[in-house]
Amino acid sequence: MKSELWWRDAAIYQVYPRSFRDSNGDGEGDLQGVIEKLPYLQELGIDAIWLSPFYKSPNKDGGYDVSDPRDVDPRFGTVLDAKALIDEAHRLGIKFIADIVPNHFSADHIWFKAALASPQGSHERSRFHFREGKPDGTPPNNWNSIFGGPAWTQVEDGQWYLHLFDSSQPDLNWENPEVMADFEKTLRFWLDLGVDGFRIDVAHGCAKEEILVDLPDPAGLTNALRLDYLDMSKEVRAGYLSNIPFFDREGVHEIYREWRKILDSYSGDRMSVAEAWVYPSSRGARYVRQDELHQIFNFDFLMIEWDAQVMADAIKKTLAELKEVGAPATWVLCNHDSSRVVSRLGSAEKGRALAMLTHSLPGGIYIYQGEELGLPNADLPDSARQDPAFFRSGGKDKGRDMCRVPIPWEAASENYGYSTGKPWLPQPTDWQRYAADAQKGDPAGSLELYRKSLALRHSHPALGGEGEITWIDSAPGTLHFTREPGLEVLVNATPAPVEIKVSGKEILLTSSGEPELNDGVLIIPADTTVWLQR
Ligand code: NOJ
Repeated sequence: MKSELWWRDAAIYQVYPRSFRDSNGDGEGDLQGVIEKLPYLQELGIDAIWLSPFYKSPNKDGGYDVSDPRDVDPRFGTVLDAKALIDEAHRLGIKFIADIVPNHFSADHIWFKAALASPQGSHERSRFHFREGKPDGTPPNNWNSIFGGPAWTQVEDGQWYLHLFDSSQPDLNWENPEVMADFEKTLRFWLDLGVDGFRIDVAHGCAKEEILVDLPDPAGLTNALRLDYLDMSKEVRAGYLSNIPFFDREGVHEIYREWRKILDSYSGDRMSVAEAWVYPSSRGARYVRQDELHQIFNFDFLMIEWDAQVMADAIKKTLAELKEVGAPATWVLCNHDSSRVVSRLGSAEKGRALAMLTHSLPGGIYIYQGEELGLPNADLPDSARQDPAFFRSGGKDKGRDMCRVPIPWEAASENYGYSTGKPWLPQPTDWQRYAADAQKGDPAGSLELYRKSLALRHSHPALGGEGEITWIDSAPGTLHFTREPGLEVLVNATPAPVEIKVSGKEILLTSSGEPELNDGVLIIPADTTVWLQR
C-alpha cells in the first residue's frame, strides 16, 4: 500500500546545485541549470528534489555558511529563479525541499557583523556564543571544530566565539528568542514561495549545554567526528559521541515542536527531514515524534559493510525504532558529505545491489545526484580542493570535494555538458561512460536500473509504502524477504553465485548479471539483488 502522505515513501533526489548544471558559463551550477534538467529528473521517476543551500553566502562551506537565508546568492540566480524552479518542478509533479541551516550563520551575516561592532554583553552578541577565554589566554574550553582545530576564534576585544564548524560559521544561540523569531520568518518566506519541506542541517546541534566545561578527550572526539570516518569501530565512535554537551541535547526538541506547528499551519502536507547524527541511533526516533519533525535521515547505509547480517540487522533495528513513534524509515546511500557508494563498497555491482535493496524497503529513499549514474569519487589533486575540512585539518582529512565534482551529462560535450566555463572542481577526463546521455537506453547501465526501480516503486503495489517485511531464513551471506502483495526480494552479498529456493515465478528486476529461475530455484550472481513476482 502506498502511503497517503507523499513524503512518507517518496524517492527524494538531492541536488547539490553548485555541481548540477551551469546555465550561464561561470563554471558554477545555478537554479536555471536545475530548471533545465527537471525533465531528466521527471523521467528518472523521483517524487521530490531537495536542494542544498542556494542562499546568499560567501561560500566558505559550500553554501552551508548562510549570510542571508531569505535571499538567493547571485551565483545561483535570484529569488525569482527560485520561484520559477519551484513552480516548474510542481508543474512536472515534483515536490521541492529546501535546506535550512539553523546551527550557524555565516560570519558575513548582518547579525554577526553587528555583534562584532557591539560591546561585550550586548544583545547583538547574545545571538551567538561569545565568552571570555581562560586566564592563561587559551579558548573558553577545549572543544574542537568538526572540521579540525579549536571550536573558538578570538575577536579583537579579546572575547571568543563558538563555531562547531569553520570559523566563518559562528554558532547561533538558540536561547535568545530573536533566533527563533528570525528562523520562523525564514521558514514562512520559503513556505509562502511554495516549498514542500525542509532538510534541517545539523538538526542535533542547535542546543548547547555546559559551554564552559572542558571535554575529557577532545582529540578522540574530534577523530570520532571526522567526516572521512577514520578507521574507528562503530562502538568506539558511539562511545565518544553518545553524550557530548553540544549535540542531541533536550533543547533541540523545543525548536522542532515550534517548527512543526508552522509547517502544519500550511496546506499541502509540508514536511521536514532532520540531519541528526545521534548515538545510539534509537535516539533518532525522538526527532520524529508526532509533534516534531517528519523524517530523520537514517545514515546506517552511508557507512554499512557489504555484509548480509549487518545489513539485515540495520534494517530490522531501523524499522523497529521508528515504528515506536509511527514515523517512516529513510534510506540514504550517499550525499554531498560522504564517499560515493560505489567507491566506498569498491564495486559498481555492490552499489547497485545495495540501491535495489534499499529501494525495496518500507519508507522513503534519498538519492544523491550522480548516484543514479553510478558515479565514483573523483581523484583530485590537493591543489584543486576547496573543502574547509581539508584546510582546517591541515590536509589530514581530504574533505568532501571528491563527491561534489560536477555531473557529466553529455559524453562528447565540453565539460560533459555541465558548463561552457571552467568547472569549479575539475572533472575526471575518463568519465564519458558515466555521462547520462551515454547510459540512456543501455539496459545494463546504472541509470536504466534506477529508472526501472523507481518506476516499479510507483507501479508495484508492494513497493514504496510502509508495509511490513517478512524475513525468510536464507544461506549465510544472503538476504531473503517478501513484501505483500506479491514481491520477493533476494540479495546475494557473497562473491560467488548462490542457489536459493524461492516462491516467485517471474524476475521483475536484477541489479546486474543474469540470474536464472528454474523450478522454484533462483541462481543469483555474486553481489546482486533480485526482485521476483510471486
Ligand atoms: C552538514 C552539511 O551536510 C555539511 O555539508 C556542512 O558542512 C555542515 N552540516 C555544516 O553546515
